[in-house]
Amino acid sequence: MPLILGLESSCDDSAVALVSSDRQILAQAVVGQNDAHRPFGGVVPEIAARAHVDILPGLIRAVLAEADVAVGEVDAIAATAGPGLIGGVMVALLAGKGLAIATGKPLIAVNHLEGHALSPRLVDRNLDFPYLLLLASGGHCQLLEVRGVGDYRRLATTIDDAAGEAFDKAAKLLGLGYPGGPAIEQLAKDGDPKAVKLPRPLVGSGEPHFSFAGLKGAVQREVAGGKHKPGDLAASFQQAVIDCMIDRTRVALAASNAPTLVVAGGVAANGPLRAALADLAAAEGRAFSVPPAWLCTDNAAMIAWAGAERLALGMTDGLDAPARARWPLDETAEKVRGAGAKG
Ligand code: KG4
Ligand code: ZN
Repeated sequence: MPLILGLESSCDDSAVALVSSDRQILAQAVVGQNDAHRPFGGVVPEIAARAHVDILPGLIRAVLAEADVAVGEVDAIAATAGPGLIGGVMVALLAGKGLAIATGKPLIAVNHLEGHALSPRLVDRNLDFPYLLLLASGGHCQLLEVRGVGDYRRLATTIDDAAGEAFDKAAKLLGLGYPGGPAIEQLAKDGDPKAVKLPRPLVGSGEPHFSFAGLKGAVQREVAGGKHKPGDLAASFQQAVIDCMIDRTRVALAASNAPTLVVAGGVAANGPLRAALADLAAAEGRAFSVPPAWLCTDNAAMIAWAGAERLALGMTDGLDAPARARWPLDETAEKVRGAGAKG
């Protein structure tokens, strides 16, 4: 079975994994940098890039040692080549190129979003194409029809903030640490999701796009008003995000014949969101698949797996593969209207 070494450094996690084409994870490691970025309430690109340079080489050695595999026994090197913070992206991509040259094995330049998009297939061998994917991370919030490896149709995106970004901004307003998603989910456990009236931007609109900036403004006003308990605010905010995602996903499902609904990306680690999406899929007569939480947040197993899928189809890359800050999965998708529209 081919063995693929996956390398990831596009945001604030340095990660390495060794995965086989028959879905075995031989070893993997993720080293986060939350402590380094926490004082700034978000990821500082320059700090992240330098940290990746420090961490990644030792991590590669440790993962190979744990699996008891020599680098020459690896069949392909899969490295994230974007999108992301360009200084960080270059670290894994250049390490991957160096290893490809040293071993003579092929390089696969992986789109980080494709890593998230295909990650459910690493743990769910029965998940076939096509499926409708809700991809919700720190940088993206999209609904995509996944038709095959490298074959995506974007149905919707956010016109302002990504879902994870909304969690991170709301957490900052509530005085919680970074990353905000897990902190809000934790605090919300003690709160009443109906306590604070917050808007549901774009709910009811015909196209399944997302918008979260107004929600952030509303949280800001409620925090300034000082009337509510933090737990109630956290729970109400989380519920508002979930309500938006459920409504938007329902609209996208109506436009897609895909038999399965899948959710991936860091925000998919959120327990109440996962439960609400499972209910939606059941109500709409679709199957539901979600990776375990560790596979939702950034990791290299998903990069190695995307590499395995590509290797099986002969889709390898040259050593001139560029690092890309911006790299949409569906290059044909039109820009959407909105302030600071993304992806
Ligand atoms: O996919 P990811 O690890 O990195 C990117 O590619 O962006 O996603 C990180 C994002 C952060 O914004 C973080 O706050 C959010 O995912 N996140 C969560 C949870 N865990 C991580 N959001 C809500 N609930 C969670 N449990
Ligand atoms: Zn990610």
